[in-house]
Amino acid sequence: MKKLLIAASCAMAMFASGAQAQDLRIAFDVPYEPFEYKDDNGELTGFEVELASAMCEELEANCEFVIQAWDGMIPGLLARKFDLIMSSMSITEERAKRVLFSDPYYITPGGWFGPESFNTDVTDLEAMKGKTVGVQRGTTMDTYVTENMHSAVTIKRYTTAEDMVLDLEGQRIDVAFVDYPVGEQTILNREGFKEVGEPVKLGEGVGVAMRKRDAKLAKEINAALKTLKENGTYDTIMAKYFNY
Ligand code: ARG
Repeated sequence: MKKLLIAASCAMAMFASGAQAQDLRIAFDVPYEPFEYKDDNGELTGFEVELASAMCEELEANCEFVIQAWDGMIPGLLARKFDLIMSSMSITEERAKRVLFSDPYYITPGGWFGPESFNTDVTDLEAMKGKTVGVQRGTTMDTYVTENMHSAVTIKRYTTAEDMVLDLEGQRIDVAFVDYPVGEQTILNREGFKEVGEPVKLGEGVGVAMRKRDAKLAKEINAALKTLKENGTYDTIMAKYFNY
């Protein structure tokens, strides 16, 4: 009997350590270059994709990457379609009511981008009257223009950041308001566009979002991110995707 008990507790211990190799599904909204996008071969890549891979290695987790449209991110997480969001999601009080955030792993302000000919002060609501500002729907940029500029400008909300950039190029909007590095790498690299206003701090940095009940996982993720910062992996990935 005693032997049996020992065998059972051994099995339990094995099970417990086996259970640590957790399966994690991580969601990205693409394209959102340089954070997450597909390269010329159709492979998912970008700063957060590589950071996620390194993080999974550190956690010894089996990770699966899932593509999810931005407007379904939090609902998808809560519905258990995936376990983590690493999609340049800024940490805000509003979102923190529904999801649990890791420590921030990046800081991005919102940036204003427009054609070379644009010379209106974006902070001057009077001067901005009648202009059309594009944002990705449900982002911190959307919240900002909705709260601060709705009386003056027409707000055009896009399901993807990519469609907004196309409309800016086609002159269907006057200004695009998007996470600064995205504008820098997908708008400023086009002929005839420039930054048209001072970047705006929105949220408290970008974090990994997970379900509220996953507090233990959050701790493990914070520890993994810390290790990646300390051992230089984070900087190596950064240097690959950002020009600063
Ligand atoms: N940082 C902004 C926010 O949290 C926009 C993020 C959009 N991310 C994306 N992958 N499309 O609202």
